[in-house]
Amino acid sequence: MADVIAIDGPGGSGKGTVASRLASELGWHLLDSGALYRVVGLIALRSGIGFDDIASVAEAARKADIGFKYAGATPSASPIRVFVDGIDETDAIRSAGMEQPASRVAAIPAVRDALFATQQSFRRPPGLVADGRDMGTVVFPDARLKIFLTASVEARARRRFEQLKDRGASGSLRAPSGSGHDNAAGSRDAELAAIRASTEVRDERDRTRPVSPLMPAPDAVTIDSTEMSIDDVMAAVMVLVQERGLGC
Ligand code: C5P
Repeated sequence: MADVIAIDGPGGSGKGTVASRLASELGWHLLDSGALYRVVGLIALRSGIGFDDIASVAEAARKADIGFKYAGATPSASPIRVFVDGIDETDAIRSAGMEQPASRVAAIPAVRDALFATQQSFRRPPGLVADGRDMGTVVFPDARLKIFLTASVEARARRRFEQLKDRGASGSLRAPSGSGHDNAAGSRDAELAAIRASTEVRDERDRTRPVSPLMPAPDAVTIDSTEMSIDDVMAAVMVLVQERGLGC
């Protein structure tokens, strides 16, 4: 069985970036498990399936035709594009509006069951870096290294805000045209507050759901990235990788 490095944690902790850089560094495969839940949320929204209609959401998860394509020559090279029924839906699933739907469908046990085998199929030589909420606790409990990456809710909301702004993923993140500086600053504060509130709702749902809640595995190493740059986090992770003799 190929080795797995599990990187779990709440949104905005930097785990996606760290997982992708680590996979590139080691030349390993990469699993962005959150993308699978985002796809199911997208399908439910587009098909008009209510999130309380558990049987229909689970059926959609079982039938979903999800594909990942890699831009580079090796599977670990990012960016990864996500296809649903052969159509590139990467931008749609990455939009801010998909966070709550993803978290809603992820709380349904039958959806998690439906995506389990797909996630495990990413485990191939020479190794896998798996990013999510339950990689170390449920999907790859025998991972050779488990990292729980976290950060304060303020830091995570701020990073999320910058990320969405850079991507232009949410039109509402931009100040209305013609607005003065004060309006722009006020609009920024309001957007940040909205992202923080949404982050807290998602965290609470992810942490308290009965199945696969967001929590560190007992044998995970917790890294708090609140005061760290991504380079700092990468350096700390590489020390752990080398200590365990992984990727040599
Ligand atoms: O990581 P990302 O923000 O893309 O995840 C979106 C949502 O998918 C999370 O809020 C969480 O509810 C769910 N998720 C999960 N288990 C995973 C990965 C993501 O429940 N392994």
